[in-house]
Amino acid sequence: MLSNQKDLFNLPEDITYLNCSFMSPMLKSVAEVGVRAVYGKDDPTSVSPDDFFKNTSALRSEFAKLLNISSERDCAIVPSVSYAMANVAKNLKAGKGDNIVIADEQFPSNVYAWKELEREKGISLKLVQPPTENENRGKRWNEMILEAIDTNTKMVSTGHVHWADGTLFDLAAIRERADEVGAILVIDGTQSIGALPFDVQKFRPDAVVAAGYKWLMGPYSSGVAYFGEYFANGRPIENNWMNRLNSENFAGLVNYQDDYQNGSIRYEVGESANFILTPMLTRAIQQVNEWTPEGIQEYLGNLTAPYLQELSEIGIQFENDEYRGKHLYGLRLPQHMNLEEVKANFSKNHIYVSIRGNSIRVSPHLYNGEKDLIKLVETLKSEVPA
Ligand SMILES: Cc1ncc(COP(=O)(O)O)c(C=O)c1O
Repeated sequence: MLSNQKDLFNLPEDITYLNCSFMSPMLKSVAEVGVRAVYGKDDPTSVSPDDFFKNTSALRSEFAKLLNISSERDCAIVPSVSYAMANVAKNLKAGKGDNIVIADEQFPSNVYAWKELEREKGISLKLVQPPTENENRGKRWNEMILEAIDTNTKMVSTGHVHWADGTLFDLAAIRERADEVGAILVIDGTQSIGALPFDVQKFRPDAVVAAGYKWLMGPYSSGVAYFGEYFANGRPIENNWMNRLNSENFAGLVNYQDDYQNGSIRYEVGESANFILTPMLTRAIQQVNEWTPEGIQEYLGNLTAPYLQELSEIGIQFENDEYRGKHLYGLRLPQHMNLEEVKANFSKNHIYVSIRGNSIRVSPHLYNGEKDLIKLVETLKSEVPA
């Protein structure tokens, strides 16, 4: 079982940081790689043509290991989720009368690309709203998503957990239903990959993307995607030289190539070898691979269970165990508690969480300990009228 890993971070002592879903704190080891890379350019001769390709391959390999992807060449380095989704949108085989199914209130990067398809191609976007009643909310929401998928559905695009309240989506069931109607499955794994196990062989997604600066523990502006068979011969949104065949041969770069590198590298962003961000994200995912997402879930489950129990005793609601991850969940306040007052008290006590809609999103990690949970619970309990 993993122990507390706070020593690997420089988190300030006087804050209670329960907000990894906003941004992870920087691992000391990742910062060190970044600083070394910044100064590395003092001597440009230290960078060889090979380094462009070794760098990118190392990052893709760590991501492939994390997701159990058989070849790193099926992965692509992307600067953002919206970038990967633009590639998905460009290559989606769908037209007028077809539809895309998403759970309602996805993060905008998993919405705007599809809204554009609605305008351009007449593909309709079906937003599946959560049930209004709290009882069995996660189970019922999952059922409603399955019911929304029909023979005109060409894509289901979802997180593994909902980014705002942590509801867990049953990807195996969604995959099965998508298969029945010939729809592709696209995953925005930004709020889960790194902290919640995700196996490409198990869920068989057609595309997956994760921004790097949350649960992957990396820097901002660097993420990784996976593209499956459906996208094998697709057209990328940009035409970068490194993504073309034989680009390793710097002397032959003006022998322009129509063919791409094998695999999904065609979807990689220009200057993907980014000599600062790419090694930083590589080191970060290496650390996550050492911890393992299973280990992180176990640690967080054990840490938070008794405190969640206390919260439920004062009327705070959250999703059932079965329909939520252990790393991210929304707390819904009972009527007698005032959200504005709770926010003010959190701020006074230096507790950092996110407010998303009506829920307080709590997202702990391995740097959190009992002290943090006690502070959270005590602050919420102070809101209960005597
Ligand atoms: C679920 C989810 N997807 C994506 C993002 C980031 O998207 P992008 O990389 O396009 O800025 C976030 C950021 O909070 C998120 O929560």
